[in-house]
Amino acid sequence: MKKNTLQTLLLILLISCANPIEYRKNVADVLLPKPMQLQQQKGYFSLNKHTVIVAAKNLKNEALYLQHLLSESSKFTTKIVYDFKPDKEENVIFLTNTFNFNDEFESEESYKLLITKKNIEIAASTTTGVMRGIQTLRQLFINDFYKKSKRISWQLPQLQITDKPAFKHRGILFDSGRHFFSTNVVKKYIDLLAFYKMNVFHWHLTEDQGWRIAIDKYPKLTEIGAYRIQKDSTVYGGFYTKEAIKSIVAYAKERHITVIPEIEMPGHSTAAIAAYPELSCTGDTIQVANEWGIFEDIYCAGNEDTFTFLENVLLEVMDLFPSEYIHIGGDEAPKDRWKDCSKCQKRIKEEGLKDEKELQSYFIKRIEKFLAKHNKKLIGWDEILQGGLSPTATVQSWRGEKGGIVAATNNQYAIMSPRAYCYFDYDILNTDLEKVYNFKPIPSELPITQQKFILGSEGNLWSERIPDENTLDAKAFPRILALSEVLWTAPVTPNFNTFYQRVQNQYPVLKNKGVNYGLEFIPVKIENELKEDKVAIKIIPKFEDFKAMYRWNCEKCDTVFKPIPKSIALSKSAELEISVTKNNAKYGTNLNQSYSLHKAIGAKVNYKTAYNSYYKASGDDALVNGRLASNKYRDTNWQGFLGADVNCVIDLEEATTVSTIGARFLHKQKSWILAPSWVSIEVSLDGNSWENWAKIEATVNEKSEQSTIEVYSKQHLPKTIRYIKLFAKNVEKLPEWHEGSGKKGWLFIDEIFVR
Ligand code: ACM
Ligand code: ZN
Repeated sequence: MKKNTLQTLLLILLISCANPIEYRKNVADVLLPKPMQLQQQKGYFSLNKHTVIVAAKNLKNEALYLQHLLSESSKFTTKIVYDFKPDKEENVIFLTNTFNFNDEFESEESYKLLITKKNIEIAASTTTGVMRGIQTLRQLFINDFYKKSKRISWQLPQLQITDKPAFKHRGILFDSGRHFFSTNVVKKYIDLLAFYKMNVFHWHLTEDQGWRIAIDKYPKLTEIGAYRIQKDSTVYGGFYTKEAIKSIVAYAKERHITVIPEIEMPGHSTAAIAAYPELSCTGDTIQVANEWGIFEDIYCAGNEDTFTFLENVLLEVMDLFPSEYIHIGGDEAPKDRWKDCSKCQKRIKEEGLKDEKELQSYFIKRIEKFLAKHNKKLIGWDEILQGGLSPTATVQSWRGEKGGIVAATNNQYAIMSPRAYCYFDYDILNTDLEKVYNFKPIPSELPITQQKFILGSEGNLWSERIPDENTLDAKAFPRILALSEVLWTAPVTPNFNTFYQRVQNQYPVLKNKGVNYGLEFIPVKIENELKEDKVAIKIIPKFEDFKAMYRWNCEKCDTVFKPIPKSIALSKSAELEISVTKNNAKYGTNLNQSYSLHKAIGAKVNYKTAYNSYYKASGDDALVNGRLASNKYRDTNWQGFLGADVNCVIDLEEATTVSTIGARFLHKQKSWILAPSWVSIEVSLDGNSWENWAKIEATVNEKSEQSTIEVYSKQHLPKTIRYIKLFAKNVEKLPEWHEGSGKKGWLFIDEIFVR
């Protein structure tokens, strides 16, 4: 052997033998979700090539899983012995599923994890409990483990944990319909769920924009239905073959994660109808949808062939997915086609149904019976309550908590996914980590006797705005961590500050797991303090880790970023730009807040019509606080009026010379927000005699799909006044051409300015 090679070999040997003793000194900081009971002792257990897994015979899956996990990151492969009488009593990882818990810890998923100097023991009463215990053990390794650095030994802290989940159903909804994600990405998420002790992967497989599951009997579902021609003429699509689905289901099963498939009906079925037009009321040929929204062509409820089709599809689905539940969607099914369809109307008559809502109920109940015949239970979105709930259905409540409350009151099970807390596709501006952490799955108004009907909750990842894996990661994490703890630990008095610190410890792990996690929240609060007609702006970082700098953007503004003073006086109309770093790295994109310095700032606003409590902005001073909204409707600076005009009187509190009066509105018809048809402004010096200032008509093309800020303003020769009456006309009912035709429209206003 050459001398060089020998030296290199010796060096490698030296390095590999020199694993320093390193273990988690403070376990409570690294476990997420937090276990129910934890006692850490001094010292550690050494896992090395001599360690043996001793498992009960029926724990083969769990033993192999653990062996694989260890070997991925180690230089050794851990031997497994399927026996309760091992030939050695030290350096063993015992796995048992015959442990009896007392009442306090009784659950299908409870486990005990004991780590002593000599051994590790994971004891549970089920194989699932053993798997949950293995996941806790997995979280106890130092970061090198997740880097898969092949060590020769690992040290694990001595401790005792006894643990069980608060809720039975802990999941995410994964939408492969709007965007397609590869089998690898699906598996990555299933493994992440396992790591954080979630147990349900709700897989949304059929949508208007794509049918993603191969069905042998109806090949066109994937030949045609899996692909859409996008607005730029490119083809987008993909689907999961049965082989791919089987491998995903097996991967989930290995980790004791249940995959619940969702096959949407009767709505969100454009892709299926594009493949088989005879399934719709009209029979017309349509295209797989290439925009987001709600579509009128749905399955015909009067046609027997629809049910034959769906039952055949469900037979193949049930063959692939062993879960107790099948999700059938049921949400957002417009009834327009059913109203105009002779077959649907005939069905309504023959079945003695009152209307199309009861026809939806007929539809769902029929499918429910079919599933029941095959020992499967039905889950549907809360719209399945329309026209009477199926007797054994489980309701997934998304339009707030109401659906879940109705179901639970009726002694039926519910899964809580209220949009405000559980939609992880939403911007963190609205649903940040803290909000998710403060989520209470059990509605407060539910009587104690009915609380057992709340099975748990899911975080929804609708993928309209999730085109790729990076965006998916950034939307899902860290919010899944908060939901995981809400559902497993259900802290009685959630302390977000300590949770936030613990989340920081997960980032190195997530990074090594290839997760491009996103932001936790908007890192600074920009406060407005109104004192008479002066605005003091305060920029407050949410935690000490955030360092913020600011600058003003305007024609004559100084463009360098400066440290934030205690308070910034608003002295010009300009845009404030804030740059934030955390651990010396940029935290998200810069934040912008525009201001307008004008003469009505701090004036009294007397409302004749009320703003809606969901969109109240800063309340009674919102229209005169100098703070402008962006064109995002969820920007908290917009004040919303539902089906009502804006009608208010501004009191400038002293005679004031003015030449321009105006107001800013949002137009975003896709979100049912329409700029006012017209705005009238009257002025007065004494509050008794009024004079017209202007009547301004809308100029925006109301059908425009852009989100635009519409300014209604009028300049005159200077005039001395004190009072301003502003009236903005709401469309009231959404126009004929609009998807919400006949329903109430929104009017959004952010500022009334006077110069
Ligand atoms: C839903 O978000 N349409 C259930
Ligand atoms: Zn029909």
